[in-house]
Amino acid sequence: MVDILPVLRSRQSRRDFNGVPPEPEKVACLLEAFRWAPSSNNRQPWRIIVVRSPEAHEKFNECLNEGNRQWATAAPMKMIILGNPEEQPERFGQQRYLLDVGLAIENLLIQGCELGLTAHAMAGWDEDTVLKTFNVPEPLRVAALFAVGYPGKLEDLHPDVQAKEKKPPSRKPLEEIVFWDEFGAAGKP
Ligand SMILES: Cc1cc2nc3c(=O)[nH]c(=O)nc-3n(C[C@H](O)[C@H](O)[C@H](O)COP(=O)(O)O)c2cc1C
Repeated sequence: MVDILPVLRSRQSRRDFNGVPPEPEKVACLLEAFRWAPSSNNRQPWRIIVVRSPEAHEKFNECLNEGNRQWATAAPMKMIILGNPEEQPERFGQQRYLLDVGLAIENLLIQGCELGLTAHAMAGWDEDTVLKTFNVPEPLRVAALFAVGYPGKLEDLHPDVQAKEKKPPSRKPLEEIVFWDEFGAAGKP
């Protein structure tokens, strides 16, 4: 059997961090990976804010929902991923900028894993607070917040968070998501 790239299976959105900040060259590498994502018409409608100062970390933590505050505040590096809907306008009712930004997010996740980091995307935050707090101009929207760092120890996490971490990785079976020749039709490669 031809197997997938090992990083695709080994990557995990971990919630434990050892507190060591990623080295500047690794941060630069992550940003380069983000920049090289493909996008429709090569419009690159993404922007990123790297959270560095203690004040910015505090402000970032304020934007998180309760569940994410339980673990993401401890991440030594944080990022805010933004998308510009005007740079990649809606077409036939589809928000294409989000597709582009999603690809850039995946580059971050994969490159982070290759560098020995855990990069964890989050959807649990308050968008208005993020936009106001970080002086983001219109028409940009927040696509995801990121917590990044080296993996730490499960024991250091809040018990509720530990329970989430202990769940084994899982995916829907191929038969549920892949069809052949028409929607719903089963088949094999
Ligand atoms: C766009 C996006 C938003 C997510 N939001 C959150 C979140 O708010 N909080 C959280 O703990 N995990 C969040 N996750 C992580 C997912 O729960 C995780 O990717 C999924 O359970 C699969 O696990 P894995 O990434 O370890 O393979 C998010 C992931 C993505 C891609």
